[in-house]
Amino acid sequence: MKNFLIAPSILSADFARLGEDTARVLAAGGDVVHFDVMDNHYVPNLTMGPMVLKALRDYGITAPIDVHLMVKPVDRLIPDFAAAGASYITFHPEASAHVDRSLQLIRDHGCKAGLVFNPATSLNYLDYVLDKIDVILLMSVNPGFGGQSFIPGTLDKLRQARRIIDDSGLDIRLEIDGGVKVDNIGAIAAAGADMFVAGSAIFGHENYQSVISDMKRELAG
Ligand code: DX5
Ligand code: ZN
Repeated sequence: MKNFLIAPSILSADFARLGEDTARVLAAGGDVVHFDVMDNHYVPNLTMGPMVLKALRDYGITAPIDVHLMVKPVDRLIPDFAAAGASYITFHPEASAHVDRSLQLIRDHGCKAGLVFNPATSLNYLDYVLDKIDVILLMSVNPGFGGQSFIPGTLDKLRQARRIIDDSGLDIRLEIDGGVKVDNIGAIAAAGADMFVAGSAIFGHENYQSVISDMKRELAG
């Protein structure tokens, strides 16, 4: 089986018991913690900052943490999230005044760097920075909230992004975020994704392990 990663989005976890719930979803087979940062400016919602990430590290979470910045401006938060223990940091290119500089800043702080594309954002932003990217994250919903439905047109965009990655010969992950469920993850993988964010599909179920193993079974099949 290809090296697929399941990244539970703790946006849908129990915030009153965040450490415990995060540990539980990892024990159930989650590979990477997806950490959604919303600023009530770039997106109309407000979530968590570097202090919360540090608290998870202090609690004993050692899995990679994938910080999805839905903030504007971007750069000020990068050093803080790196110091708090982020593994990946991704941001939306239209929220950064200097995309190349933001990517370099992430790498300079020892994290893996990535760009996030909203459903209507062109992949052209990749043109001159591909060599500074470790992950391409395609949004399959408009960012801001969990529990929305997968936008089907994203499958074509995934195929396009997969072609760009394969043609480059670079080692770049293709991540998908929004509306990922057991019943569409197979088609999403077939379109080229290899890292899958899922929030409500996992945390909305009482047995995290059964959802994650169903997802992995779909990926293997
Ligand atoms: C949405 C966030 C997602 C969200 C996904 O803006 O970026 O990571 O948690 O949630 P589901 O899987 O419920 O669509
Ligand atoms: Zn996200």
